[in-house]
Amino acid sequence: MIFSKSIIAIIKERTSWRTYSNQLLEDDTKKKMNQILTFKDIKSPFSELAGKTRFELIAVPEFAPDERKKLGTYGLIKGAQEFIVGAIEKSDYYKENYGYILEAIILGATDLNLGTCWLGGTFNKTLFSSKINCQKNEIVPAITPIGYTTDTRRKKEKVIRAFVKADSRFPWSKIFFEKTFSTPLPRETTGRYEALLEMVRLAPSAGNKQPWRVLKEKDCDNFHFYVYFSPDLKMKGYNTFVNIDVGIGICHFDLTAKEVGMKGRWEFLEPKLEQPKELKYIISWIGQ
Ligand SMILES: Cc1cc2nc3c(=O)[nH]c(=O)nc-3n(C[C@H](O)[C@H](O)[C@H](O)COP(=O)(O)O)c2cc1C
Repeated sequence: MIFSKSIIAIIKERTSWRTYSNQLLEDDTKKKMNQILTFKDIKSPFSELAGKTRFELIAVPEFAPDERKKLGTYGLIKGAQEFIVGAIEKSDYYKENYGYILEAIILGATDLNLGTCWLGGTFNKTLFSSKINCQKNEIVPAITPIGYTTDTRRKKEKVIRAFVKADSRFPWSKIFFEKTFSTPLPRETTGRYEALLEMVRLAPSAGNKQPWRVLKEKDCDNFHFYVYFSPDLKMKGYNTFVNIDVGIGICHFDLTAKEVGMKGRWEFLEPKLEQPKELKYIISWIGQ
């Protein structure tokens, strides 16, 4: 995917947007968006293991009047006339792959000055699945509204953002480690890798739970990605989304590495490291 500006700038610019202007995308923008939805030049490290993934732009005005009342967005999303809906074959790593690809698409939309908001829970799964003609072997893990935003966020949206502390992220010391999970990775020692990790840190996640944990090996540029499953019952619902979230963080790392010219390859290694039981290994980036 070719972005018009730096991916670092786009990642910093993107925020979830829940208030839209009621307008459909203009023809030219729609054409560009449909091109982005083919994600031809986007390759996630999971794409060979995950099943086929496809995306469509779905317009609400084409819904039957009773369907328009059943979007399932519970008043959280207002004024959106179009949604990006994707379907992926149930397979290993389907959540990580979907997270990676839909985030790349969302960054493409941000580059076009369009608003988006990952929706994993608050949408009518049955309705949107039928709109993309979801097959028995497929699943619709999440969708996003897409469109022109209003100038300001409405009050309800501000309340939601305050509730999930949407503008803040965990400090480095809570999510990035060196050699062991009891040693935080000092930001000042990361040198040319600082931007890659900072872009992971800024990624969006369900409920802003930021479930990615990254462990760097000492004295070499290997980064192991893990996902945190909260044992807290109250947080249990979010555990459904953590593999999508980690796919999003990996997307940010990978696109930033490519932009700044850091060479590395993704491998499934399962390193023999002592790890807290709440963590599950996902994948490693081996720097070259
Ligand atoms: C996988 C995923 C699922 C999400 N599901 C919802 C949702 O169902 N409803 C909602 O209002 N926001 C949802 N969000 C948006 C998050 O609340 C938001 O990304 C987070 O609070 C950080 O805010 P930001 O995106 O503005 O940086 C979801 C985000 C992700 C990544």
